[in-house]
Amino acid sequence: MKIGLIGCGRMGGALIEGAITAGLVASSDVLLSSRSKESAQTLADKCGAVVAENNSQVARESDLVLLGCKPYQIIDILNEISAELPGDTCLVSVAAGITLQSMEGASPEGTRIIRAMPNTPSLIGMGATGISKGSHATDADIAIAQKLLGSVGIVLETREDQLDAVTGVSGSGPAYVYTFIEELAAQGVKEGLDADDALQLATQTVIGAARMVEQSPMSPAELRNQVTSPGGTTLAGLKALTDSGFEKSVATGVAAAAARSREIAAES
Ligand SMILES: NC(=O)c1ccc[n+]([C@@H]2O[C@H](COP(=O)([O-])OP(=O)(O)OC[C@H]3O[C@@H](n4cnc5c(N)ncnc54)[C@H](OP(=O)(O)O)[C@@H]3O)[C@@H](O)[C@H]2O)c1
Repeated sequence: MKIGLIGCGRMGGALIEGAITAGLVASSDVLLSSRSKESAQTLADKCGAVVAENNSQVARESDLVLLGCKPYQIIDILNEISAELPGDTCLVSVAAGITLQSMEGASPEGTRIIRAMPNTPSLIGMGATGISKGSHATDADIAIAQKLLGSVGIVLETREDQLDAVTGVSGSGPAYVYTFIEELAAQGVKEGLDADDALQLATQTVIGAARMVEQSPMSPAELRNQVTSPGGTTLAGLKALTDSGFEKSVATGVAAAAARSREIAAES
């Protein structure tokens, strides 16, 4: 199978490198194009893929084309490559907010399209991605997209209308967690720690707690109860967090990101 990438930026590059490293595709079967030849060449130098003449060559010669450009460029690129698509090509878009309907409208009738919503930890192989199938895409297309995106993290198939929730939880989620780590460390400094030590402790605490949730049969609530003794420090901290609106802040943050995702999709 030949995989093409149009848009050799951070996300597209990470996915292609992940797919090659995972052995999903041979580097010689990967064709790259980008706005500038330099970006495509830089990625080719890293992973051994082949630089194409232009986007049209990628469209013509690939079984699967990954669209790694910015959301506002997607429709123009589909218009540019439509005439070159052989008809049995599957397109996979990672562009936030660009709906399957709008991509199908800009592609030849019957084009098989998968829309994905990855997140930034995909860049280090720890991504969390939701994918949805367009009206002509097949189960085999979903399976290959799951393998491609699964080479840099976990992938869940969802309905397209659930991708806004995916955006609110995992798409935007890393930024919430960065903010939490930042505040945890800043308060550690106020409590007397050195800044480097505070950041290390806060970061490892988030990694460790996430691993506990992942590896334990217990729910997050059960794990929390296990470490909260009556009259203890954790209970004092948790009560103060709740009294300050911690859970409500997380809920309103997720709701606002999902609502913004719905707005962007409606505009596309
Ligand atoms: N980064 C994330 O965490 C994340 C998360 C979820 C979804 N996404 C989605 O991933 C997509 C890419 O994001 P990114 O952060 O990887 O952006 P990026 O690093 O800016 O990459 C975009 C790439 O598109 C290329 N490009 C621009 N116009 C083009 C054209 N006409 N033909 C071919 N290539 C073109 C650019 O080429 P040059 O380098 O040559 O200018 C650039 O390499 C976006 O749609 C975004 O919504 C990203």
